[in-house]
Amino acid sequence: MTIPRLLILGAGGQVGAALVREVGRESAITVDHQMGLGIQYAVDLSNSSTCSSQLEELFSLIRPDVVVNAAGMTWVDGCEANPDLAIRINCSAAREIALQSRRFGAANVYFSTEYVFDGAGGPYSETDDTHPVSVYGRTKLDGEREILAVDPSALIIRTTVVYGPETLGKNFAYQLLTALAAGTPMPVPSDQISSPTYNADLAAIAVALVRERVSGICNVVGPEIMDRATFARRLARAIGGAEDLIQPVTTTALAQRAPRPLQAGLRIDRLRSVLPHCVLRTPEEAMAHWRSSQWGKPWPGLFLQASQPCCAPDVQSLRPFDSTGGML
Ligand SMILES: NC(=O)c1ccc[n+]([C@@H]2O[C@H](COP(=O)([O-])OP(=O)(O)OC[C@H]3O[C@@H](n4cnc5c(N)ncnc54)[C@H](OP(=O)(O)O)[C@@H]3O)[C@@H](O)[C@H]2O)c1
Repeated sequence: MTIPRLLILGAGGQVGAALVREVGRESAITVDHQMGLGIQYAVDLSNSSTCSSQLEELFSLIRPDVVVNAAGMTWVDGCEANPDLAIRINCSAAREIALQSRRFGAANVYFSTEYVFDGAGGPYSETDDTHPVSVYGRTKLDGEREILAVDPSALIIRTTVVYGPETLGKNFAYQLLTALAAGTPMPVPSDQISSPTYNADLAAIAVALVRERVSGICNVVGPEIMDRATFARRLARAIGGAEDLIQPVTTTALAQRAPRPLQAGLRIDRLRSVLPHCVLRTPEEAMAHWRSSQWGKPWPGLFLQASQPCCAPDVQSLRPFDSTGGML
């Protein structure tokens, strides 16, 4: 019996690390910008002169069966300021990864976003017309298209507002809870409507979709649609934080560099039909789970304890990922 090998690119990022945690450190071969903190291989996806050859070398060495591309240029305003870099990472490199995956007969998974829509009429299903309003959204949509052109059986997971434990503590929940713990008021847009997604649920569902051999575009987001200020208040309430420090503002007042889709959010009918029993936590359920998991960077002054990096083991000690669902 051949043993599936799972390669995760962007394994040090929020989603990548949640995936490593979901499958177990011993089951993932981890790649990122830089080695260290459990990352076994480094590839610079932004370097168009070396990216292709580095990926080819890596794929020849690993010969993966499943490749999850969780790398990306995710700073939305940064993409607006540096579109060429965003194209290289979110689109050109994603195409290269899809090409190498196809060459080696590996299943390819790519994470995309609700920012492929303009936010004029959400929530959106997988088949709704796209119309990104930012460089980030355009480069992610182009990435989707390039990948599906190379390999129509690739899986594209669209998600949004991902939060939960992570090593670097960058996501919106950390920013909010850090501000609350410091007693600092935090302006939060009340007109950006979306589907907050707990990262552990996203990771578990991504693995289940691979096991079910689902292909094409599939939305994977949390179970409720709400504006960002409401989301912030619910997170604060769930941990007993000072809700009154959350200051609802308009997106216009925030003067963010890149336009945002306002009336967005994603429909999950396809996901519900493919995985009827999948777990999608509300913000309150997610915070309770996060509290008990004690993983990732601790919040200042709050309850989380020891921080653990998303370490992967030596290649010799790898336990192969079983994409059929059984334990090997
Ligand atoms: N987080 C969300 O709310 C959200 C929503 C929708 C879609 N997504 C998609 O989900 C995927 C994962 O997002 P995330 O939240 O995990 O983002 P993240 O925390 O920013 O992680 C992205 C990862 O990509 C790596 N990366 C960036 N530039 C690279 C380069 N030039 N070469 C190699 N690796 C590079 C980063 O490494 P360094 O840190 O070392 O640069 C990081 O480990 C992305 O494709 C994103 O578009 C995320």
